[in-house]
Amino acid sequence: MTIANRTKTIEEIRADFPILSRLVHGKPLVYLDNAATTQKPKQVIDAISDYYLNYNSNIHRGVHKLSQEATDEYEKSRTTVKNFINAHKYQEIIFTRGTTESINLVANSFVKPNLSEGDEVLISNMEHHSNIVPWQLVCEEKGAKLRVIPINDTGEIIFEEFEKLLTEKVKILSIAHVSNSIGTINPVKAMIEKAHAKGIPVLVDAAQSIQHIGIDVQDLQCDFLAFSGHKIYAPTGIGVLFAKEQHLKKMPPYQGGGDMISTVSFEKTTYNELPYKFEAGTTNIEGAIALGKAIEYFNSIGIGFISRHESELLEYGHSVLSEIKGLRFIGTAEQKASVISFLLDGIHPHDIGTMLDVDGVAVRTGQHCAEPLMKRFGIPATTRASFSFYNTKEEINVLAESIRKVIKMFS
Ligand code: ALA
Repeated sequence: MTIANRTKTIEEIRADFPILSRLVHGKPLVYLDNAATTQKPKQVIDAISDYYLNYNSNIHRGVHKLSQEATDEYEKSRTTVKNFINAHKYQEIIFTRGTTESINLVANSFVKPNLSEGDEVLISNMEHHSNIVPWQLVCEEKGAKLRVIPINDTGEIIFEEFEKLLTEKVKILSIAHVSNSIGTINPVKAMIEKAHAKGIPVLVDAAQSIQHIGIDVQDLQCDFLAFSGHKIYAPTGIGVLFAKEQHLKKMPPYQGGGDMISTVSFEKTTYNELPYKFEAGTTNIEGAIALGKAIEYFNSIGIGFISRHESELLEYGHSVLSEIKGLRFIGTAEQKASVISFLLDGIHPHDIGTMLDVDGVAVRTGQHCAEPLMKRFGIPATTRASFSFYNTKEEINVLAESIRKVIKMFS
């Protein structure tokens, strides 16, 4: 098998993920549901144990040793995230519960206060529900309109239509970097340039790109970027909002509570400095620390190897699955991350998923929290296989074999 990177082979990488060697229904696990959540390397699992075994404590509050250690590790993670996405300052990194909370924060603190009747929020037809519903909520409250950029039959943004929708009424463009359901990589940099030329701020939903594509927020020039830890080998319940400092300074707090204040009296409360103004209450301390460790691990594998290996898997997956009669791909954009969505003639995706599971193959089936996208393609659901750098071509062969069995069973 290919040498993975400077130091590790693919077998050594897989050995870092203990769960990958378990059996499911007596068969080796073939985990191809990485777009839903990624597995965790033992370096991340160990970091969580280490926190609870050795320095569990609240942050920013204690003068004692444990609190100082926890605070140091938490803030070290923030710097790791800052460097990872090349943010200008650590003040621009807010820890949240995940992409969903990050988007809700921007919708409520940045957009809502300045949204009036007749204004518009612009998204695309391929968004995850988490990049639709928060905008609907603020639009409904303020009498604003949600506008949707159409996509073509391969699952790509129709750029000319996007440009037409960019009017002075638009108060924010919020766009997925990569579609969770069909893997399309959107031309976010070009879209940001177009939006900025009209003075429109842009939020990039990086939930499905952070684990596949090197992100540089200074290069992208996005105003906001949201992602979840669990998609990049960290635990659930921790995520990030990057926001340009100039915006954060003007935004009111999203939630009130401990740690986000400077002084409190019944007459008036003043708020803490950035980024703490947006981190009310006791946060997910071990989650943030583990996210830092996950990013360190990710960097040790290297984005170069990760994108090469995942592109190879995508290409191999397309070629192997395209040989299966009755299989139709949904989402065939030119630029794609390692996600393959497909249909089998006359077989419901839930039946496919259930039968693949019997062979130890884990995929996601359904609407993938993207109901409007399914409607766009006129389908109820798809089966989705999504690959990580720890997957192999042999696993794709197992998937293909298992799909053939499903077809035989239903024929
Ligand atoms: N957003 C996750 C997915 O695409 C849960 O499966």
